[in-house]
Amino acid sequence: MKQIISVDVKTRKAELTRCQTDMLVVGRFSDATAPDEILRKLDDKLGGAIERLKELGDFTGKAKTHAVLYTNGKIGAQRLLLVGLGDRGSATLDTLRKAAAIAANRAVELKVGQISLALHRPLADRLDAAAVGRAIAEGVYYGSYRYDEYVTESENGRLGSLEAQIVDPDAARLKSMVPGIAPGVVIGRMQSHARTLANRPANVINPPALAKAARDLTRGLTTLRCTIYDERQLEAEKMGGILAVGSGSQNKPRFIILKYTPAKKPARGLPTVALVGKAVTFDSGGISIKPAQDMDQMKLDKSGGIAVMAAMKAAAELELPVHLWGLVPAAENLPSGSSYRPGDIVTTYSGRTVEILNTDAEGRMILCDALAFAVRQKCDIIIDIATLTGACLVALGTYNAGLMSNNDDLVKDLQKAADDSGESIWHLPSGEEYAEEMKSKIADLKNIGSRWGGACTAATFLQQFVGETKWAHLDIAGMDAFASPVAYAAAGSTGFGVRLLITYLMNLVGKK
Ligand code: BES
Ligand code: ZN
Ligand code: ZN
Repeated sequence: MKQIISVDVKTRKAELTRCQTDMLVVGRFSDATAPDEILRKLDDKLGGAIERLKELGDFTGKAKTHAVLYTNGKIGAQRLLLVGLGDRGSATLDTLRKAAAIAANRAVELKVGQISLALHRPLADRLDAAAVGRAIAEGVYYGSYRYDEYVTESENGRLGSLEAQIVDPDAARLKSMVPGIAPGVVIGRMQSHARTLANRPANVINPPALAKAARDLTRGLTTLRCTIYDERQLEAEKMGGILAVGSGSQNKPRFIILKYTPAKKPARGLPTVALVGKAVTFDSGGISIKPAQDMDQMKLDKSGGIAVMAAMKAAAELELPVHLWGLVPAAENLPSGSSYRPGDIVTTYSGRTVEILNTDAEGRMILCDALAFAVRQKCDIIIDIATLTGACLVALGTYNAGLMSNNDDLVKDLQKAADDSGESIWHLPSGEEYAEEMKSKIADLKNIGSRWGGACTAATFLQQFVGETKWAHLDIAGMDAFASPVAYAAAGSTGFGVRLLITYLMNLVGKK
C-alpha cells in the first residue's frame, strides 16, 4: 500500500537570490506600499516580474493566495512561489503556518521535491523564533498531506518525499528557529497520521482495528502503555453506554486506555490530565437511522478519539513532564436485530441510568463511560473531544469548534492553545438550565434535550458525569474534515485537535 508522503524539514544558510533550489518561497503582505528588501532584490534580478504581477492585479499578497513565477535562470531557484500573507497588522503565527502549508500543497501538486522557505523574514522581529520554526514545520506537513493509499490507478501520481528547507542568509537567525523544528516535526507527523487513520473507511477501521492502531502507537516507547477492554471486559466493568452503542454491530466495541508516565518527574502541583475522545468508527444513527445524504462522512465520527491517540503519542515523543491518560471509547453504531433501541434504559459505568430517546445521540453514551472512568482514576483535569452534534456545526459553521467547560481557567488555557495552534474554538454555554431538559421520568437522564441548543444540551449531558473535576468539552462536528480542498490542505480529515491538545499540554509544562 502507498505510504503517505515523507517530509523532511531542515535549515539552510543561503543568500536568497543565489539559493539553488527547485522552488523558493517568499511571502508578501497585501498592504505594503513598497516591496520589502527580499522582494526588491528578487524583483531586480527577475527584471521587475514580481511588481508586474502586483500591477496586473494577479497577485496582490491577499491571504491564502499565491503565484508561481518561472525564473529562467535569473536567480538560483527554478521557481519562485509568492504566498500572500494578508494585512501586516493581522498576520500571526498561523499566517506563517498556513503559508508554509500552501507552499507544500503547491509543491506536491507540481511534483516539486524541494522547497526553500523564506516566509519567516518579514515577521521575524515580531514572533518568537522557535515558535516560527515549529509553525513552519507543522505547516509543511499539513499542506503536503494526501490520502491516496487505496488509489492504485492514479494517472498523475505524486512524489514520495518532500524536502523543506527554512532558508536565511543569517546563521544566527536560523539557529534561533531550530529548537522549534523538532517538536514541529513530531506534531506535524502525528497530525498526518491522525488524518490517515480518520480518512480510512469503516470497513478498514472498526473498533478492534482502532484498538490495534492505538497499541501500535506505543511501540518502542516505554513511557506509553496501552490497555484495551474487549467486550468481555466491558461487560465485567459494566460499561453499559459503550456496550449499548456497539451492540448493533458484528464489530464489537472496545475501550482504549493509553497511559503516559513521564520518565522525568513532573513539577510539583502539575495536574494529571485525561484526554477523552469519541471514536464511533461509523455512525449510521442506529435504529434512529440518518438520511442517506452524506452518510459516508460518518466514517469520520472517530476523529476525536484519533486526535487523542495522536496527541498522546506526540506527548510521549516530546517527553512532556506530565501524567496523562488517553481514553478512547470505540464503537460502531449500526441498526440490526441486536441494536439498542429508542426507549431502552441503559445503566452506564457511573451507575447512572439513561433513557435512550434517539440512538443517533450515541457519542454521549460512549463518552459518559469514559468520563466516569477518568473521574475514578482521580484525574485533575478532563478534556474531551468529539464530533458530537450537528447543532454545533449549525451554530459555529466550519471555522470554530465549540468549547464548553465548568472551569474558567481551563477555558483560558484552551483559548490560548487555540491561538497558538491555529485550531480555533469558541466558548459556548452549558449547565443547569440545559440539565433540566435532560431529566427523564423513568431513568436518571434522557439522552436528548429539546429541539433547541443541541450542542449545549449534549455538553451538559457529559458535564453530569465529571462531578467536581475540572472539565472541558470540544465539539468538533464540522471541524473534522474539509468537504473540498482548501488553499492549504487536501479534502478529507483535518486532524483537528492534535495541534490544539498538544499545544495545551506543552503550554501546561512550559515547553515552547
Ligand atoms: N456524529 C453525529 C454528529 C455530527 C453531525 C458530526 C454532523 C459531524 C457532522 C452525532 O452522533 C449525532 O448524530 N448527533 C445528533 C444528536 C441528536 C440526535 C440529538 C445530531 O446532531 O443530529
Ligand atoms: Zn449519531
Ligand atoms: Zn456520532
